[in-house]
Amino acid sequence: MKVPENLWYPVLESRELGRKPLGVERFGQRLVLWRTADKTPHAHLDRCPHLGTALSGGKVQEDQIICPFHGFAFDGAGQCRHIPAVGRSGKIPNGMALTNFMLQEQHGFIWLWWGAYQEEYPDVPYFEELSPVWRYGTDVLEWSVYTPALLKTNWMLPIWHTCIALR
Ligand code: FES
Repeated sequence: MKVPENLWYPVLESRELGRKPLGVERFGQRLVLWRTADKTPHAHLDRCPHLGTALSGGKVQEDQIICPFHGFAFDGAGQCRHIPAVGRSGKIPNGMALTNFMLQEQHGFIWLWWGAYQEEYPDVPYFEELSPVWRYGTDVLEWSVYTPALLKTNWMLPIWHTCIALR
């Protein structure tokens, strides 16, 4: 089913997202969400542009999300800022960046713009006509998932991964 585009969609309750990267599946895509220290939420495809590792298995450090495989660091705009294997002064290849999504945080939810980039975005839709005394609840179902892709990439185990994984 194709999800209608160019609309805001609530993808998480605000309370569900902390500083730790959180992987979710929305719109048939694996996404990773995380927050910088000022609490701004960020969302990207959950796929490192280097070798495709899930960034949701990584960590946030100094307002950057760090890939768990070789330690590439990406800022909130998705730009790669550091590659451990080339050092602080090493060149970062053009195009080494994450796919970003526009977010807004309102009404206790994180809303994601599903569609094309816009010069200006419409307001987040909400039920303004509802009385403020109305409440809502959330049901959460959790189950274990097998992640063969992550295991497969880790079997390759290049030397850079050993440096990152063991520090
Ligand atoms: S797969 Fe992410 S840094 Fe290599």
